[in-house]
Amino acid sequence: MSASKLIHRGPRTPGHPLIGASILSADFADLGRECRDTIAAGADLLHLDVMDGHFVPNLTMGPSLCSSLRQALPDAVLDVHLMVSNPRMFIEPFAEAGADHFTFHIEVADDPIELAAAVHEAGMTAGLAINPPTDVQTIMPHLEPMDMVLIMSVNPGFSGQRFIPDVLSKAAQIKPLLRTDQRLEIDGGVNGDTAAAAREAGCDILVAASAIFGSDDQKTAIKTLRQGYPVNPSRSA
Ligand code: DX5
Ligand code: ZN
Repeated sequence: MSASKLIHRGPRTPGHPLIGASILSADFADLGRECRDTIAAGADLLHLDVMDGHFVPNLTMGPSLCSSLRQALPDAVLDVHLMVSNPRMFIEPFAEAGADHFTFHIEVADDPIELAAAVHEAGMTAGLAINPPTDVQTIMPHLEPMDMVLIMSVNPGFSGQRFIPDVLSKAAQIKPLLRTDQRLEIDGGVNGDTAAAAREAGCDILVAASAIFGSDDQKTAIKTLRQGYPVNPSRSA
């Protein structure tokens, strides 16, 4: 299945989102096996957190790692999240490295619509991310060409942080404005305790690092994120 087919996959089952496994909490010394195992356990996407030590205070991975994963896992959907100050310079390198999807941040995008066009031109789907302190209104004029909007539910930089529930009001505002072929992803602190609220707010891709790679039973962890604790029965009826 190609990435665009997966990201645009329909019809949607309300309350049953796609699950992205953020490899930031995987064992980098054994990454191929870790990624195969998490896909076998039910993860729909591999989420690659790219950090430049400038936009966020951490350094992680680049196109060469993406390329290695693409070779090791030809069918995996590679969802790349750019937490870098200059996303434009990485569009071609990640496209050449086999990335399927490329999300950049509103905080560093001078022309998000033009940037999305460049991502599409390179053969990837495009996403626009927003950090917790950033006003939701900043992304509203730029939604049309996006295949995905990513709401950050922690301040980016590290896995294992606590979910910031205030960001769910952004999901509630954005979701009604999205077409059925646009996805709403949430990333940061998503676990068995917070996933239900994210699903109820309309998020249909949930990203998790520590909740998946920190679990001894990834299959159950992923199932819990996907359908987890019961959604309010009066709303799901
Ligand atoms: C944070 C990254 C997240 C992170 C999530 O900057 O964008 O993808 O890895 O980690 P958890 O799920 O542990 O909060
Ligand atoms: Zn991420």
